[in-house]
Amino acid sequence: MLGTLSLLVIFGVTRSWAVDYEMLIEDPDIYSRCTEGPPDSITVQEAFDLDDLTIAMESDILHVSGNVTAKWEVHPTDRIVARVDILHFNRGTWDPTVFSMVTQDFCSVMYDRNQYWFKYWTTYVTNRHEVVHQCLSTGTILVHEPFDVRLKMMNYRGPELRGRYKMMITLKAFDKNLPRPSSICTEIRGEFLKA
Ligand SMILES: *[C@@H]1O[C@H](CO)[C@@H](O)[C@H](O)[C@H]1NC(C)=O
Repeated sequence: MLGTLSLLVIFGVTRSWAVDYEMLIEDPDIYSRCTEGPPDSITVQEAFDLDDLTIAMESDILHVSGNVTAKWEVHPTDRIVARVDILHFNRGTWDPTVFSMVTQDFCSVMYDRNQYWFKYWTTYVTNRHEVVHQCLSTGTILVHEPFDVRLKMMNYRGPELRGRYKMMITLKAFDKNLPRPSSICTEIRGEFLKA
């Protein structure tokens, strides 16, 4: 999930010159409660036991290691819809940007090498052969080998990034087509600075 910060890298499209940006994360806990999340949503801290996870911030690098245990009430056969939206703070409100991504069946692509989830996160899950069928269901332990997330975007060629942004991540689970009682919503807020 952390690694999705790096997603921004892919969104650069057409601009004649490239810029490097660094992201400064506002919240020392990284995962903030959503300010406009769905009414049924719980936080990352409520959905996962993060006691055995260590995230150390060192300038523009996050050093991540340790384990995460799912507490979220979800079954292994549920379908999980994952959505990432990037919003920009403008005169007191969070406005949508063109940057968003929806994955209709997160569990089926969680370990797919072509997916950003894999490249920036699940590739570092060492027990994936155990958890591949459990996905994020209650009690699943994701064991990570230590990895770094760089909060730097090199050669960005999109529209200029100015001021505060947030990445809003939502996960919704469906049993057949019935939604489970709680979804997860979290946001990572920060500011982009030209590096
Ligand atoms: C993570 O889980 C593995 C396997 O159960 C265990 O060996 C390791 O000590 C755990 N690490 C932490 C930081 O809890």
